[in-house]
Amino acid sequence: MSAINLQQLLKRIEEVEVKALEAIQKATNSAELTEVDHTFLSKKGQLTELLKSLKDIDGSDRPKVGARVNQAKAKLEESFNVKKTQFDSLALEEKLRSESIDLFLPGRRAVLGSLHPITKVVTEVVSIFRRLGFELSEGPEIETEYYNFDALNIKADHPARDMQDTFYLPASIKPGVLLRTQTSNVQVRTMKSKKPPIRILSPGAVFRSDYDVTHSPMFHQIEALYVDKKVSFAELKGCLLFFAREMFGEKTQIRLRPSFFPFVEPGAEVDVTCMMCKGKGCRICKETGWLEILGAGMVHPNVFTSCGYNPGEVQGFALGMGIERIAMLKFDIPDLRMLFENDIRFLKQFGV
Ligand code: PHE
Repeated sequence: MSAINLQQLLKRIEEVEVKALEAIQKATNSAELTEVDHTFLSKKGQLTELLKSLKDIDGSDRPKVGARVNQAKAKLEESFNVKKTQFDSLALEEKLRSESIDLFLPGRRAVLGSLHPITKVVTEVVSIFRRLGFELSEGPEIETEYYNFDALNIKADHPARDMQDTFYLPASIKPGVLLRTQTSNVQVRTMKSKKPPIRILSPGAVFRSDYDVTHSPMFHQIEALYVDKKVSFAELKGCLLFFAREMFGEKTQIRLRPSFFPFVEPGAEVDVTCMMCKGKGCRICKETGWLEILGAGMVHPNVFTSCGYNPGEVQGFALGMGIERIAMLKFDIPDLRMLFENDIRFLKQFGV
């Protein structure tokens, strides 16, 4: 290698510095800038290479060269950094523009499945009665004969008590215990544990030995009970009409037919205007224009007595309806058993 003097070396440094500055200015993106860094400033870059020539010059001149190289490096690094900051903020802006998020875009809904038609009907009935001041109250599904029958004035020879109709626990396990056949047991349990005024609503499963297109051994009822010092049949009618209109539409009419339930007197079966034909008569209402949906009546004095109330001092009404029947009418379900088959294709149709 030919010897080099101080002046030549300083000149080379100057040239490299000018070239590098130019390259930095010309760079149009950060990739080009990195390239400049590599060519001039890195360990193998041109500026560092020049330091190798230090060995060829006079020892006393070496600090001058070192200082000059450092000066050039500092200058280059400064303009490199200015440029780099420019590119970085441009890139950030671009990134923000392209990835901008819409804060008002609705979230993606998690698929939660749908509410079972029974649940939907129960929820609706409960919300209607809640508006009339009725509170939820639940009772046991495994019940004694006393609460399911005796205290409700259902005599020992009543056909409903027949083993053919009612599921009894084997006497060897516990005599006098059964799966409740109606939610009316909650009437008794509530009156025995509370003083009037009482306004309760009790949905739940009940069990009877039945199985066909309109019957299942397990089904659901909702019971309502209102007891106070003075409660009239007119109030029962008002409550029924309010419920029927909220549930089936404001044009709905109700019709009460005298009927017998041992725990009410007088008792009635309650019909509503057929929601399919609006009362004109169709296949669903068997051309009558009416659909029977519930039983109701004034609480029987014997029931009050069983519950420790004085029938001379309190009055009340009770009503009970079958949920499956209402769900079948409301959703036009032809076979009650579909409600319990858990077929996803069927259940999916009911939305959330
Ligand atoms: N518990 C009766 C039934 O299962 C319905 C009912 C309830 C009737 C309350 C009158 C009063 O058929």
